[in-house]
Amino acid sequence: GTPQGMSTLPCRSSVWRSSHRSICRSSRTGDGVNTAKPPTLMDAQKLSPLPPSPSAQLQDTYGPVFTVNLGSRRVVVLCGYQAVKEALVDQAEEFSGRGDIPAFSKDFNGHGVVFANGERWRQLRRFSLTTLRNFGMGKRSIEERIQEEAQCLVEEFQKTQGAPFDPIFNLSRAVSNIICSIVFGNRFDYEDEKFIALNKLIFKRFPGFPSAQLYNTFPGILEKIPGPHQTGSKCSQEIISFILERIKLQQATLDLNAPQNFIDCFLVKMEQEKQNPATEFSLENLVMATFNLFFAGTETISTTLRYGFLILLKYPQVQEKIHQEIDVVIGRDRAPTAEDRGRMPYTDATLHEIQRFSDILPMSLPHTVTRDTRFRGYLIPQGTYVYPLLSTVHFDPEEHKDPETFAPERFLNENGSFRKQNAFLPFSAGKRVCLGEGLARMELFLFFTTILQHFTLSSPVDPQQLSLAPEVSNLGKVPPRYQLCLRQR
Ligand code: HEM
Repeated sequence: GTPQGMSTLPCRSSVWRSSHRSICRSSRTGDGVNTAKPPTLMDAQKLSPLPPSPSAQLQDTYGPVFTVNLGSRRVVVLCGYQAVKEALVDQAEEFSGRGDIPAFSKDFNGHGVVFANGERWRQLRRFSLTTLRNFGMGKRSIEERIQEEAQCLVEEFQKTQGAPFDPIFNLSRAVSNIICSIVFGNRFDYEDEKFIALNKLIFKRFPGFPSAQLYNTFPGILEKIPGPHQTGSKCSQEIISFILERIKLQQATLDLNAPQNFIDCFLVKMEQEKQNPATEFSLENLVMATFNLFFAGTETISTTLRYGFLILLKYPQVQEKIHQEIDVVIGRDRAPTAEDRGRMPYTDATLHEIQRFSDILPMSLPHTVTRDTRFRGYLIPQGTYVYPLLSTVHFDPEEHKDPETFAPERFLNENGSFRKQNAFLPFSAGKRVCLGEGLARMELFLFFTTILQHFTLSSPVDPQQLSLAPEVSNLGKVPPRYQLCLRQR
C-alpha cells in the first residue's frame, strides 16, 4: 500500500478549513483519498525504499493524485505519466516552484539555482544555462573535454589488467573532472589528494543515506539532536570552502575580457552589475550555483554509468550488440563523437533504457505551486509541496509493456531505428527540467561508448546471481556495489 513514511490524511474541511483553499475535490469530498493517522516518529523510522514498481500499487490504491503527510507538511503526490505531464508541462508556470529538502537545502539557504525561487532562480538559471552552452565557442568544446577525460578513464582502467575491481571511485572522478573543467577550467589527476577529498565529500552528500530521509521528515526535531544527519552539513561546509578558495584564486588572475570558465563568467557578471543593489550576481550565489553543479552533476551521471555497466554484466547479449554497433559505426581507431549517436540506434536505445530502468531520482526534487492552482478538479493552495514521482512514470504500466523488464527494444522501431517514448523523464520536465540534461546525455554517451570500444566487461560471479535491485532507494536510487573485470578488445 502506502509508500513508507507517507500516510494519507482524510480530505475533510476540518483539516484545511477554508473550503475554497483546499486540496479537496470541491464537490466530491474524500473521493479517492484514503484515510489514515498522521505518521508518528516511529512510522518515519520505518522509512524504507519505495518498492521498485510503486506505480501499480500507488495508483491502484489512491489514484494518480493524492495528498500525504510528511512530518507536519502536507504534500500532493503525482503518479503516472499523464498526471506528471499535465502538471509539469501543461501547467508549467504554476508547478515551477521549488520546495525544500531540509537535509540539503539548508546548506544553500535559498541561494544558487536548485533551491532558489522567484527572480533569483530565473536569473541564475538563465545565466547557468547560457554559460554551459557557450562553452562550445572559441575555447575547447565540452565534447572535447569529455573525450579527453574518457581516454584518461580508459588508461586508468587498463591498469587493472583484467583483475576484478569496483569501478565506483574512478567513475566518480572522471565525471567530476568534467564539472571541474567547466567551473574551474582544469581537470585533476585521479591521485590528487585534494580532488580525492572533494569527491569523497560529494559522494557522502548524495541523497542516498537513510538518516537524511528522517531528517527531511522531521527537520525541526533532528536539528537539535546530534547524529549522523549532522555530518552532511559538515561535508557541505568543506565543499563550500574548497569552492571559495578556488574563487579567490581566480579572482586574483581574472581577465575581464577573456573569461575562461563558469566562475570567471560569473565574476565578470558581478563586475558588470556591481552598481545594482538588487543584483543576484553575488558571491554567495556564485558559491552556491557552483556547488549546485557539483551536487547535481556528478553523482547523478556516475550512478547512471555504474548502473549501466552492472546491467551489461547481467545481460552480456546487450553488450555484444553494442560492441557490434561500435565496430561498424566508429571502429577502433578514433574516439567516439557526439555525432555518432544518431547512427547508433541500439546503443542510444540501451542508454535510454538504462536511464528509465535505473530511475536514479525516483521522486525528482520537490516542487511547489507558485500560486493557487486548479488541477484535475482540485484547488491546490499556493506554496503547497508537490512530488512528481518519476518512478511511476518510468514504471507506468499504461505506457510501458512489462515495465519491470530491461528491454532496449522498447526504444526501437521494427526497422531498428530509434523510437522516442513519452514516459521517459529521468531529467523531469517543465520549467525546472534538469539544467544539465544536454551535458549529461553527452557524457553518458561518450563515457559509455569509449569504455565499450576498448573493453569487454565481465563479472567474476555468475551473471544470473547479479541483482539489479537498488541497494539504497530514497531520494536517490543507488545500485549495489559490484566487481567488474575488463578485457582489452
Ligand atoms: C544522469 C544525469 C542527471 C540526471 C538523471 C538529472 C536529473 C535531474 C532531475 C530529476 C532534476 C529535478 C528537476 C525538477 O525539479 O523537476 C534535476 C535538476 C537539476 N539538475 Fe540534473 N540531472 C543529471 C545531471 C545533471 C548535470 C550534469 C547537471 C549540471 C551540469 C545538472 C544540474 C541540475 C540543476 C542545476 C538542477 C536544478 C534545476 C532547477 O531547479 O531549475 N544535472 N536534474
